[in-house]
Amino acid sequence: MKHIIAVNASPRRNWNTAALVRAAAEGAQAAGASAEVIDLYTLGKFSGCISCFGCKTEKNRGRCVCTDALSEVLDKIRSSDGLIIGTPNYLGEATAGFRALYERLIFQYITYNTESPNCNEHHIPVLFIMTSNASDEAYQPGGSYQDLVRKYQGTLSSFIGPTDVLIAGDTKQVEDYSRYSWTFFDPDSKYIRHDNVFPGKIALAKELGGKLTEGGYID
Ligand SMILES: Cc1cc2nc3c(=O)[nH]c(=O)nc-3n(C[C@H](O)[C@H](O)[C@H](O)COP(=O)(O)O)c2cc1C
Repeated sequence: MKHIIAVNASPRRNWNTAALVRAAAEGAQAAGASAEVIDLYTLGKFSGCISCFGCKTEKNRGRCVCTDALSEVLDKIRSSDGLIIGTPNYLGEATAGFRALYERLIFQYITYNTESPNCNEHHIPVLFIMTSNASDEAYQPGGSYQDLVRKYQGTLSSFIGPTDVLIAGDTKQVEDYSRYSWTFFDPDSKYIRHDNVFPGKIALAKELGGKLTEGGYID
């Protein structure tokens, strides 16, 4: 049975990103895989890459040696058959938690060797999910976040495996907008979109999660 690791890199465990990550994991399960969801911000202390270069030694080639709460996550991803990873857009980037995992996940495979720059020999399919206040269109050609997502998709595809992207823009950020004086948003359109469009994103997450279990990627 294939095993999928699903990482929610939002600090919120029950909101947009978490819901999409869980839906994708359910899609993988419905397609016959097992899946484990990890809420990154519930783990113990962790950091990004500390530049120790342990992963560049012959003994630990391709293996991050930094020991903290991410060590187990990296091990789980390494032995999995597919990765779902979701993050909100924070200030035009992924979250700090996502970045920490991403630095460690990718950098361990970079060899600085021209002939074979990537030492990951176990490529697995990836689903990258981003949610944001910005609209879906912001991630399309000409949009302000197209390059951001293209960068993650390109790097994940090169070092981990073929990467699909799911964007859920214009999310409902809080349950009750009337508690805040946020003239930036039209609360009604947020509620309506959440009720009418977000369920379609959940369905798409399930479908793409299921796709991760399709054959052909397992080394
Ligand atoms: C610290 C912070 C920074 C944010 N920065 C952006 C941003 O630059 N662009 C954007 O479109 N949305 C931004 N947002 C909105 C979130 O990306 C959006 O509400 C997202 O869906 C939240 O995900 P969650 O519901 O899973 O926590 C920001 C939210 C927070 C809390």
